[in-house]
Amino acid sequence: MKSFYLTTPIYYVNDAPHIGHAYTTVAGDVLTRWHRQRGEAVWFLTGTDEHGQKVMRTAEQNNVAPQAWADKLVEEAWKPNWRALNIANDDFIRTTEPRHMDRVQKFLTSLKDKGYIYQGDFEGPYCVGCEEFKLPGDLLEGNLCPIHSKPVENVKETNWFFKLSEFTDRLLDHYKKNPDACQPESARNEVVAFLEGGVRDLSISRSTFDWGVPVPWDTDQVVYVWFDALLNYATAVGLTDAPDSEGGKKFAQTWPADVHLVGKDILRFHAVIWPAMLMAADLEVPKKVFAHGWLLVGGEKMSKSKLTGIAPADITDHFGVDAFRYYFLRAIPFGSDGSFSWEDMSARYTSELANDFGNLASRLAAMVEKYCGGVLPAVAEDTELSASLKETVAKADVAMQNLDFQGGINAIMDFCKQVNGFVTVKEPWILAKDPANQLILEDVLYNTAESLRALAILLHPVMPATTEILWESLGAKSTLGEIGAQKIESVAKWGQLPPGATVTKTPVLFPRLEVKE
Ligand code: ME8
Ligand code: MG
Repeated sequence: MKSFYLTTPIYYVNDAPHIGHAYTTVAGDVLTRWHRQRGEAVWFLTGTDEHGQKVMRTAEQNNVAPQAWADKLVEEAWKPNWRALNIANDDFIRTTEPRHMDRVQKFLTSLKDKGYIYQGDFEGPYCVGCEEFKLPGDLLEGNLCPIHSKPVENVKETNWFFKLSEFTDRLLDHYKKNPDACQPESARNEVVAFLEGGVRDLSISRSTFDWGVPVPWDTDQVVYVWFDALLNYATAVGLTDAPDSEGGKKFAQTWPADVHLVGKDILRFHAVIWPAMLMAADLEVPKKVFAHGWLLVGGEKMSKSKLTGIAPADITDHFGVDAFRYYFLRAIPFGSDGSFSWEDMSARYTSELANDFGNLASRLAAMVEKYCGGVLPAVAEDTELSASLKETVAKADVAMQNLDFQGGINAIMDFCKQVNGFVTVKEPWILAKDPANQLILEDVLYNTAESLRALAILLHPVMPATTEILWESLGAKSTLGEIGAQKIESVAKWGQLPPGATVTKTPVLFPRLEVKE
């Protein structure tokens, strides 16, 4: 079976991760968890981009060799960061690994054998921050990179070129025929306009430094860092391995990638250069490149180089990991830019997570304990709730598959609001005053518990740890099994929580925020 294969960018190891990197990787984690719960085979890849001048210079500034620098950052910053954010990636690729470097060399040799690589002279402006050759028209005030606001450097050398220009028409044709292949629409329009403006061949090697993959037939040169980096998506799953080998089989199961998730800063690399490289090798191009927007600070892209990066821990220490995972996907339409605001996050935490969701869960557990001795009563179905749940699941599933995280989460949280409304209208605490109402009271509580079962499953990809606690509190784990194994397609089947299950109170899911000094 073909896996749903999703990748994040491989991040530069020039510094520790900030919430911009976490934004992409959390989105990837939520989407892959959703697809797993759809019952699909999934492969989720992230990793680090370790070659090139940007990393090399940072290592030099810190007086360590680039490999030692990369090792330290990967082990002490990147991997622990993803563990802390509960990222369930299946693999982590580093571009300095032999499995990657060997396959890059094989791939490059195959393109040369096919006539797509030639030697030439290069001269032009280069931004080390972007690791990108710029066109004079891209620059601000004549020589500033518009992204890094720093002067570009002039590069002049003899090196190897990839015949990128030969693929312009095929790429245009590809995006016209497959609008899904580049999303959102604004990103596709940008790529099409760029291609229509004409594309030059790409210099793909450098001779003035040696931190990179050696060009196999000219070892005085190293492969251009982006050519090396883009290949990670395919080398990690066995590119160039024989079809009957383990790598070859993995490649057949995963390729082409279903989604390359990237920020809009690196759209052109992914939607122009990368598919052209694959076309040159007669490989299938990715099904979708999705370019999301930027987290902004003071109206500008948050970045390591501008020292505006906020560490994920600065936020999770206060709000917790699950609220962090929830907030950015809920607050910012995926594809648009958004500013992080402490006030907005506090407000949503309190109203949506603590009040709407967390309180509903603790009220239910408290009432089942008080009115039913902690034992879940008989199955009851409020048809308005069950019908609305069906619609919620259908809506959320379409939205999530389209990477409309905000739409998906909103649909689920609207259902949560409806359940709150149901409890408010039924007033179980009033019903409890008269023993004659016991059966009606039990119906209300069963319906509420069953709604929470569905909410736990639907929110599990977004907030894995909190929903796990709720799952146990409902007595669902010992009766229905692991929450991660619950399938989206059967969430709306009403009456799954077994009567007689033990419902237990848990610590508050979203504790009151401490006042920040
Ligand atoms: O570009 N808002 O790595 P990188 C949202 N190594 N997302 C942001 C962000 C922000 N302010 N800042 C960073 C590279 N990101 C290359 C990629 S892939 C073959 C090679 C996220 O460390 C976003 O996903 O500069 C962006 O595209 C990526 O981090 C860039 O990370
Ligand atoms: Mg960057």
